[in-house]
Amino acid sequence: MPTITVVPGDGIGPEVTREAVAVLDALGLGLTVDVLDHVHADRFLATGTALTDDDVSRIRASAATLLGAVGDPRVTSPDYARGVLLRLRAELDLYVNLRPVRLLHERLSPLRDGRRRDLDCVIVRENTEGLYSGIGGTLRAGTRDEVAVDADVSTWLGVSRVIDYAFGAARRGVCMVDKSNAVPAGGRLWQRCWRDALARYPQVPARHLYVDVAAMNLVAQPETFDVIVTNNSYGDILSDLAATLAGGLGAAASGNLNPATGFGLYEPVHGSAPDIAGQGIANPVGAVLSAALLVEHLGHPDAAEAVRGAVRSTVETGRCTPDLGGSLTTAGAGAAIRAALG
Ligand code: NAD
Ligand code: IPM
Ligand code: MN
Repeated sequence: MPTITVVPGDGIGPEVTREAVAVLDALGLGLTVDVLDHVHADRFLATGTALTDDDVSRIRASAATLLGAVGDPRVTSPDYARGVLLRLRAELDLYVNLRPVRLLHERLSPLRDGRRRDLDCVIVRENTEGLYSGIGGTLRAGTRDEVAVDADVSTWLGVSRVIDYAFGAARRGVCMVDKSNAVPAGGRLWQRCWRDALARYPQVPARHLYVDVAAMNLVAQPETFDVIVTNNSYGDILSDLAATLAGGLGAAASGNLNPATGFGLYEPVHGSAPDIAGQGIANPVGAVLSAALLVEHLGHPDAAEAVRGAVRSTVETGRCTPDLGGSLTTAGAGAAIRAALG
């Protein structure tokens, strides 16, 4: 019986994760759930440690992890996110951040033109390098001459493997997004890895866009995108944009994956939403659809499709939280999804 670890986290994290775990229970797949409910901002504030080596071992020993969100207005240091989320992504080498985006219902599209509502793409975000490398530092800190440098690291291995994953995930085609017209060294490396991949996958339709145009085209011509592969920070930004086009951040799911080891950490794309935490109105759909990605990864594609179908039918009939136009609470929306599962 596979064990999955669950890290509810902060803010709305525990609220939406509770519903996702209840959906997993309802699927009856016999998963054992190991909850790490001591990983949160209070612990970081009290001890300076967010995630211990023992926590990492428990996560590593499990088949997959479901995470709510980490982040708290009392914590301003990046050490917290770096100590939990970015540590797990780096230590478990979860080099693909998979962010599927599919419009849940026509009424949720911010776009009036019907053609522009045709949104069904997957953002494949490089998840271990780029501006998140943590390499850099500050000169003359605290003075008017302060200079801050954060290195934007790209490696041949890191870029090649994520582009390979994108080609493997392609249904209609792959679009590589970079800023090689302005960023010289990393731009050259992404372009070289891209050209090499084009030669390996001659049968897959492929194109390249600069990130500014990609952002515009996601809004103006969303139907032209299938798989988008890009670096860590462009993937972070484009996936919030795409999520909004697909119905809202509360409904967006993601998986942090290492296809070689098979480990996956699944989490909604949103954060801990301190502005609505504790009100019982957080949308659980992003967490529930992340749980669907998790069960798909554990070898249950039918269960995953059933969860997606249940989510679509509740949203279609307005049985959802206020951000999707309904009036249900987090728990009510979770219960509606489980009822639709049958
Ligand atoms: P956020 O994603 O938490 O919230 C952005 C906006 O979207 C807010 O108005 C919020 O109310 C709304 N929203 C988000 N999720 C929602 C949901 N499920 N239902 C309804 N509305 C929802 O982004 P933020 O405010 O920039 O960040 C808050 C904290 O979360 C910060 O500490 C940030 O670092 C952290 N964060 C964590 C993760 C993660 O753990 N994966 C991701 C993003 C942000
Ligand atoms: C995300 C989040 C994180 C990121 C933050 C919290 C470090 O925004 O998962 O998209 O930028 O990767
Ligand atoms: Mn983000």
